[in-house]
Amino acid sequence: MIGEVNSLNQIPVIIDCDPGIDDTMMLMLAFARPELDVRLVTTEAGNLTIDKTTYNALSFLTYINKHVEVARGLPQPLFRKQEVAEDIHGEGGLGNVKWADPAFEASKRPAIQAIYDTLMHSTEPITIVATGPLTNIAALLIAHPEVKPNIKQISWMGGSAVGGNMSTTAEFNAYVDPHAAELVMRAGVPIIMSGLDVTHKAYITRDEMAHLRTLGTPFAEKVADMMQFYTFTQKQTPFYTPGFEEQIRIHDVSAVACLVAPELYRGDDYFVEVELEGRLTQGATIVDYTKQSGKEPNVHVLHSVDRAAFIKLFFEAVTTIGKTL
Ligand code: BDR
Ligand code: CA
Repeated sequence: MIGEVNSLNQIPVIIDCDPGIDDTMMLMLAFARPELDVRLVTTEAGNLTIDKTTYNALSFLTYINKHVEVARGLPQPLFRKQEVAEDIHGEGGLGNVKWADPAFEASKRPAIQAIYDTLMHSTEPITIVATGPLTNIAALLIAHPEVKPNIKQISWMGGSAVGGNMSTTAEFNAYVDPHAAELVMRAGVPIIMSGLDVTHKAYITRDEMAHLRTLGTPFAEKVADMMQFYTFTQKQTPFYTPGFEEQIRIHDVSAVACLVAPELYRGDDYFVEVELEGRLTQGATIVDYTKQSGKEPNVHVLHSVDRAAFIKLFFEAVTTIGKTL
């Protein structure tokens, strides 16, 4: 399933994101790779308010000259009050890097309508890359369950099998809108989950980041500036990997990387559900990794990555986009 291509040898995708530093790097990889045909970008309220994430998507796509339709998502999670992550991504959300004044506006169609139309008018099923809370996707699936056969898979950065970053047990995207995540997990659509278990292994070191500047393009410089900000704001979790002080995790990039280079990732199918009631565990993704529940797996959970090859892919994308500008 992962990485299957259409008749033109491309994977048609809709990207739903909340840029965000790592979302921006995910967009870079998506637009750098010939394997992907990005049909639509939609925004989530997540790392920042919906106004800011929408502005950031338009700003970055303007800078890289990719004027794909950007449709604005719902302004808040389904039931919870919105929580943002400006402490991690900066007040503007891109590490205070300014990409460009948007040269085009957000679509007149709201995100849910735009996703619906794109799915229903497609002659082949489309992959949804989701790198924020799953609010838009859950709302779409409630309002229009008929879209399901037209979704090939959802490649989501979110959740975690063991340990969170927003609380002890919950990862940010799952924590912010756990009801949406639970609805999507139960939808019966194929899901690939790049949770913290794998994204904490898909990091770039400070030395590698310094090397970005030697690529010699203004784009690479800006990427390095943006990532530099992230270095100091990411929550450090020694639990996952030794040498964690050196590791800058570009979580969302894995949701695209696992589609264009599936051979870099290892995972397995598990039953996953999202904790909605827990006193200490709200938003935790409960992954049945011992497979003792007897329940049918609903999610392909990635757990490891070839980091060296991942970083090569990342650098190639910075080079590819940098050359086009
Ligand atoms: C996720 O949370 C956000 O801050 C990042 O953009 C990523 O999607 C990591 O937990
Ligand atoms: Ca994100």
